[in-house]
Amino acid sequence: MSHVELTVLGAGNMGRALMGGLLRHGMRPEQIAVGERQEAARAALSQELGVTATADNAAAIRKADVVVLAVKPQDAGSVLAPLAADLQQRQTLVLSVAAGIRIQALQSWCGAGVPVIRAMPNRPALVGAAVTGLFAGPEVDESRRAVATQIMRSVGEAVWVATEDALDVVTAVSGSGPAYFFLLAEAMARAGVDLGLAPDTAQRLAIATLHGAGLLAQGSDGDLARLRAEVTSKGGTTEAALRTLQDAAFEDLIARAVAAAARRSRELAAQAGGTGS
Ligand SMILES: NC(=O)c1ccc[n+]([C@@H]2O[C@H](COP(=O)([O-])OP(=O)(O)OC[C@H]3O[C@@H](n4cnc5c(N)ncnc54)[C@H](OP(=O)(O)O)[C@@H]3O)[C@@H](O)[C@H]2O)c1
Repeated sequence: MSHVELTVLGAGNMGRALMGGLLRHGMRPEQIAVGERQEAARAALSQELGVTATADNAAAIRKADVVVLAVKPQDAGSVLAPLAADLQQRQTLVLSVAAGIRIQALQSWCGAGVPVIRAMPNRPALVGAAVTGLFAGPEVDESRRAVATQIMRSVGEAVWVATEDALDVVTAVSGSGPAYFFLLAEAMARAGVDLGLAPDTAQRLAIATLHGAGLLAQGSDGDLARLRAEVTSKGGTTEAALRTLQDAAFEDLIARAVAAAARRSRELAAQAGGTGS
């Protein structure tokens, strides 16, 4: 990445998280330009990250090899369309993290031939622990895919998916996923309080358990059923809890929740760009 000139359009939560990750991974502040319309955000950027920001997006992308689109989905078209001529002329890679905005819509704003990649990171990007699903449009070569992988890996893991529709499932599993774990941890803490623990003790137990379970799973070969079996002694406490969850069709409930999120992702994409399937 030492040779890549990068521009981030939109320096909100995700844009800043990505720039922080890239700088931690050895990118130099001089390699990053920012287009951001909020004056306060621009001032904070130069102080916090040492990168230069402007309100003029056309100026911000002038030297860019890669433009990371990190504005809200509803702003994507109005940000990209005025930049189309420049993007086309320089064949700049556009890496969009805007949720639900389809390649077809991005391509229509950027103009024919511009290489476009969609990325769906999740909120743990803010602490460098994201997982991102990536999908590339037809114009994208291997070297640009590699650059996109490196950018998203600066805030965590990155996985490529085979179809654009799969990004709706990525959204449902990992995009929305942190909230599922938070709900579970909330419910565990509340149950602990109901059974006599002090609220702050119950909260710490639930959060530390979430963290520890995540680390164990991350450090494993990925066999979650085996990890579960290792904590579940025959006739023990965990087995009693899991039997209660499974008797109430817990797995089926999660499957329906994830399916609802994927469905909603498709609906929002259709509304946002008129190109969702
Ligand atoms: N945050 C997440 O956890 C997360 C996860 C996955 C994907 N994403 C995607 O990441 C994108 C950014 O999300 P975010 O949470 O970082 O949003 P955000 O905090 O609202 O940041 C977007 C920034 O872009 C600025 N902006 C809007 N229009 C602009 C323009 N024309 N030129 C320059 N800057 C402009 C916004 O200014 P204003 O405030 O004036 O609009 C704001 O400062 C979204 O598309 C979202 O779908 C976010």
